[in-house]
Amino acid sequence: MTELLIKNTTLVQVREQNTTILKGETLRILPKLENAWIRCQGNQILDFDTMENCPPDQGHVIDAKGRYVFPSWCDSHTHLVFAAYREQEFVQRISGMSYAEIAASGGGILNSARRLCAMSEDELFQAAHQRLKQLIASGTGAIEIKSGYGLSAEGELKMLRVIKKLKAVSPIPIKASFLGAHALPAAYKEDRKGYMDLLINELLPKIVDEQLADYVDIFCEKGFFSVAEAERMMEAGNKYGLKAKIHTNQFNSMGGIEAAIAHEAISVDHLEVVNKAEISALANSNVIPTLLPSAPFFLQDHYPPARQLIDAGLPVTLASDFNPGTSPSGKMAFVVALACIKLKMLPSEAINAATLNGAAAMELENDYGSITKGKKANLFITKPMPSIAYIPYGFTEKIVEQVIINGQLLAKELV
Ligand code: NIG
Ligand code: FE
Repeated sequence: MTELLIKNTTLVQVREQNTTILKGETLRILPKLENAWIRCQGNQILDFDTMENCPPDQGHVIDAKGRYVFPSWCDSHTHLVFAAYREQEFVQRISGMSYAEIAASGGGILNSARRLCAMSEDELFQAAHQRLKQLIASGTGAIEIKSGYGLSAEGELKMLRVIKKLKAVSPIPIKASFLGAHALPAAYKEDRKGYMDLLINELLPKIVDEQLADYVDIFCEKGFFSVAEAERMMEAGNKYGLKAKIHTNQFNSMGGIEAAIAHEAISVDHLEVVNKAEISALANSNVIPTLLPSAPFFLQDHYPPARQLIDAGLPVTLASDFNPGTSPSGKMAFVVALACIKLKMLPSEAINAATLNGAAAMELENDYGSITKGKKANLFITKPMPSIAYIPYGFTEKIVEQVIINGQLLAKELV
């Protein structure tokens, strides 16, 4: 079995196995072990302690003086599989068009769907695989990926099969979400019900049969899908044992949060627009609020009220929302920086939200998201830095120096 020993380092996010999600005030506490070593065996974290008790060198040994060892980022919301970037729309927005106007004129998600339709499954896989490798090199060690640029039976199946292939080759865990209800395709413009029927009656049984999804998702938003449609999708998912992670409250508050709570969703994602009643409803539920600050950053929109959510005792989570329309980056260190700079989260809160809580938002908290004996050894070693606050402070810096996945060191030239 491979052995790896990292010495003379500071371990960050050190937890007992029973710490699974961090809510409210507990988000502030980020336990560290200074002057420490950590030993990985096979794909697991075997042991760690302070240097007085350092075991003799065995296997691969790294002296990480001045550096920190983190658990890998857990990115619980991405649209990693897509055909092409949409930088032309970025230019249109600079010139004054809004995201909604671009979407209403056939751009946006529909633009991505047309491009995806024209691309072969293999090309799509190659492009997504390349992106996945880059994200792993930037410190991501668990990820969720959505469909939603297919918008037809063939297109959605193509995307979900690509995600399934990624799962098969990926050294990090991947969760797949079925987001057929991402935008209404042009062919169903006059027949919303027909599209929902297609997704729920025809596609979902196939998806379940081929084990193509772990969750269902829907874009619950004006101009996209209604609360009633979201309820229908979540109900259908629940019938097959697929829980929901939904896009809601990005631009409007329309009742998506209450519906998600009623259907015992895992998470409600975005929450740029959220009112007090919704915050207290969330506080009385187990639904995880996932914030995606790179989307409002990129759209120059307003940011979710992270402080109010934390003050209400909620387990705020951070994810990248990597997608070609609203967040063309999956770099979690930048998400952490935005959370501190724009959402006024403390570095400790942001790091907790992007690691252990991210794992919980993918139901992976027993194996990922913290430095805990017995958990999978998905870690990164930072470059020398003065303190952990340097991560959001040095927001353009490449802070990851070495990456460990399943106890194995990634070749340096890949990082
Ligand atoms: O999470 N909000 C809906 N979906 C994506 C954007 C998708 C796109 O524009 O391609 C999001 O921001
Ligand atoms: Fe999204």
